[in-house]
Amino acid sequence: MFPQVVFGGDYNPEQWGPEVWQEDARLMEEAGVNLVSLGIFAWSRLEPAPGVYDFTWLIGIMDLLHAHGVQVNLATPTASPPPWMVRRHPDILPVTADGVTLWHGSRRHYCPHSSSYRTGAQNLVTRMAEKFGDHPALALWHVDNEYACHVTECFCDASIAAFRSWLSQRYGSLDELNKAWGTDFWSQHYGDWEEIQGPGRMPAQGNPMQSLDWRRFFSDSWLECFEEQKKILREHAPDIPLTTNFMRFHKPLDYWEWAKSEDVVSFDSYPDTSEPQWMVEAGMGYDLMRSLKNGQPWLLMEQAPTQVNWRQRNTTKRPGVMRLGSYQALARGANGIMFFQWRASQAGSEKFHSAIIPHVGTDSRVWREAKALGMELKRFEGLLSSRVQADVAILFDWENWWALESGDKPVNDLNLLQRTIDIYAELFRRNITVDFAHPAGDLSRYRLVIMPHLYLVSNRAVQNIEDYVARGGNLVMTFFSGLVDETEHVQLGGYPAQFRKLLGLWVEEFVPYGSRDANSIQTDTGDRFACNYWSDIIRLEGAEVVAHYLEDFYADYPAVTRHSFGKGSSYYLGTSLEQAGLSWLLRRVIEETGVQDRQNLPAGVEMTLRSDGTHTWTFILNYSDERLQVKVPLDGINLVTGAVVKGFVSLGSKDVAIVQT
Ligand code: GAL
Repeated sequence: MFPQVVFGGDYNPEQWGPEVWQEDARLMEEAGVNLVSLGIFAWSRLEPAPGVYDFTWLIGIMDLLHAHGVQVNLATPTASPPPWMVRRHPDILPVTADGVTLWHGSRRHYCPHSSSYRTGAQNLVTRMAEKFGDHPALALWHVDNEYACHVTECFCDASIAAFRSWLSQRYGSLDELNKAWGTDFWSQHYGDWEEIQGPGRMPAQGNPMQSLDWRRFFSDSWLECFEEQKKILREHAPDIPLTTNFMRFHKPLDYWEWAKSEDVVSFDSYPDTSEPQWMVEAGMGYDLMRSLKNGQPWLLMEQAPTQVNWRQRNTTKRPGVMRLGSYQALARGANGIMFFQWRASQAGSEKFHSAIIPHVGTDSRVWREAKALGMELKRFEGLLSSRVQADVAILFDWENWWALESGDKPVNDLNLLQRTIDIYAELFRRNITVDFAHPAGDLSRYRLVIMPHLYLVSNRAVQNIEDYVARGGNLVMTFFSGLVDETEHVQLGGYPAQFRKLLGLWVEEFVPYGSRDANSIQTDTGDRFACNYWSDIIRLEGAEVVAHYLEDFYADYPAVTRHSFGKGSSYYLGTSLEQAGLSWLLRRVIEETGVQDRQNLPAGVEMTLRSDGTHTWTFILNYSDERLQVKVPLDGINLVTGAVVKGFVSLGSKDVAIVQT
């Protein structure tokens, strides 16, 4: 898509005068900037009054950037409707579950179901597509900004009406809806579509399916807004790719569905680098972005050059950390590194957010580091068509996330993302590259698939997972998985009923722990580990016991099992293990399945490989405070320094090597 590694950031020239634009263009050229995101929040400048469009200033800027070799990622500025629109059409404003209207004066103050908003957005986008579709600087469309950030849902009348019609499309009839929602419980039977409401404030627990469908509906509704703009942009500029910026594991939007509609995945990443494990969570986000479009390279659309402004304490990225984090993204499949933002704002709520050009100007560490990175990135265009290979996948599904974390469960504090991080962190520490996969997606290329707490599973996914193992795959499933179908009805016949054959067991009873409960397990090799939070009472039907409980009324019952199924194997973890226990289990599975493990690297080193079939690029990142000697799997040339690498590379603290072989 781009001939070079992309380097740039959000550029908001509407906050500055023409003299600054000239300086910006010159400095962009100096720093090696080749792409900027323009116009993201410029609706009120592009359409200052209803139907009055002013594109002259933007054309001027695009011409100027073009003359300086900078391409444009042009945004549709629909994330922040202008005040005149609110005044004319107050119905665009979102309404909370409590009936509170969210006013303008900030951003994202619109309901996706407001027809006034949608018409206004379509009109503006059409004009922009006509005007800019063939501008030579235009390289990418940036649709809206961070969909479902701040406002995830709306309870206005238009939303409720749209919910009803979404439901009627999904279920076809009220009978089907009543069945799916289990409305014989607590007298909730619906006799008319008009009786259906959103899951607003209620005296007690609401219907779990009403909430789940509400989540599905809103993910679809935001996507509909995106699709509507995409259609217009495609019509006028069929060759210009488009994207919208994602936000990590962003709960309101099912990114598996969203990624299908994008040409390239782009991502805004804001790790708190004062946290010791910042690189683990950042890496996990990057791996998700790569996985969403089946390994296709993605763009780091936004990151902070140093601090943000929206945490309680906005810590500084210390020297070298921004560079290191940028290379981490590249190592995990990004083909571009961009920032929020180019020049620090003088006014507005983000004036203390960092930028490539800080308030103090270019005599600054931040500018020097950014510019140096921009120059350095020019050396890596050779790796643009390479891919990251992963042997291991973690299953992650938004519908499961929504269902698992709402309603009333045996435990109501099972945090799926945190549990996924715990598993991911173990693999990260061993330098095992991980993809994320949809439970119904293609799993055939993985040696190992880990399935944390997949409570809700569709029949299609059940079949997919079973086929994967039958054909030789290896699975690790954790407790509270495979319990309900897509309508959140419990699968009867012994938990987890549809995986009984695959696992060679059934679960008779759940034992959630009280705050004073504790237990431990003993493995078949005699190791002991503490367990906490939960125990399944497992009844065997062919599986072998890998570890059993040591105490309580279920002492000696299996806690961890293994079952051969077809040509593959499935492990089941019926409890929550302390970190050492989780580490033991994963090590055992990794050894058994032959997943390549790089755990003998020094602590604080990350190693990831990209390959295009001809060349391999080994990324070695040193997060530690020490200089380290790191053994490389393949000799070659370190593209960062130009030095020949044989056997080892010596890396200073926060330094990186990219060894091309
Ligand atoms: C992002 C957003 C940007 C800017 C940035 C600040 O979420 O897309 O517009 O607000 O955060 O960190």
